[in-house]
Amino acid sequence: MSLKEDVLRELIKTDEYISGELLAKKFGKSRAAVWKAIKCLISEGYNISAVTNNGYKLLECSKLASSCEIRAFLEKDFDVVHYKSIDSTNNACKRLLAEGKSGEFIVFADEQSAGRGRQGKSFYSPNLSGVYFSVVLRPYETLQNAVTATTAASVAVCRAIENLTDRKPQIKWVNDVYLDGKKICGILTEAITDFEQELVDSVIVGIGINISESECDIENIGFLNCDINKNRLIAEVTNELVKIACSDYKNFIDYYISHSLIIDKNIKFIQNGKITYAKAVAIDKTGGLEIELENGEHQILRSGDISIRKA
Ligand code: BTN
Repeated sequence: MSLKEDVLRELIKTDEYISGELLAKKFGKSRAAVWKAIKCLISEGYNISAVTNNGYKLLECSKLASSCEIRAFLEKDFDVVHYKSIDSTNNACKRLLAEGKSGEFIVFADEQSAGRGRQGKSFYSPNLSGVYFSVVLRPYETLQNAVTATTAASVAVCRAIENLTDRKPQIKWVNDVYLDGKKICGILTEAITDFEQELVDSVIVGIGINISESECDIENIGFLNCDINKNRLIAEVTNELVKIACSDYKNFIDYYISHSLIIDKNIKFIQNGKITYAKAVAIDKTGGLEIELENGEHQILRSGDISIRKA
């Protein structure tokens, strides 16, 4: 970690002034080096108050996308790679993995030219109006199964939004995050498998969150619509994802169930090529959706795309 990153992390942690001397001592550098790091942060848009005999205090973070700031907010060490523009952050992760990149890392982009959604759909990802990132996680027992990883990601997004805003998002099975009845986030989870060992080598969790309205409005697409630090949001989602991966399964499945948008709703989905109508009854302890068909039979859906029928 660079001194700039270390200093930023310390400033983020407190509302008080920290002296240059203390920072220098903590990181084994000179006060001049700390001042240089502070000047660099100021030039990147951080509003830092510097007061003689008092030290430095962070007044406001930069509005710019910053790997350094994401790392400062992360509770676990991840490499963070930033692109101004990329085809798809999931694709970028796959390329980096194929080149032998090790460890866990995050790729984020200001815009995607070929953002991918589930079931081969595209994901519109214009500059400035959203947050597009992919987190590469190495095997965790809880995330070995792709369905679990995908539900875990929707819980991580909801928790992060609740931690940072006053918004109350919900989850539409399997993993779409909704706010006020409109989709604000899509998640595409992909696993890279080691065929010889029959093990999941890594899981790529790709997340796109709509923050503000863009020029091209799409029907039924919602937005978080609040002033949010995008760097912090990326870090917070990742922190929540890691927490889920390291805690017991029940911890997040209870949250997933309690934040479900679809219980008791009339739904529609395609089964064996034909449109099927049903009512969503419950989500079971494995994340499966229990439905009641029109003939009264109950069934558990394990994957697929459902839509809610208007009343
Ligand atoms: C969906 O709603 O169908 C899933 C959308 C997933 C979009 C995210 S944006 C970041 C990552 N990169 C991609 O190409 N897709 C995911």
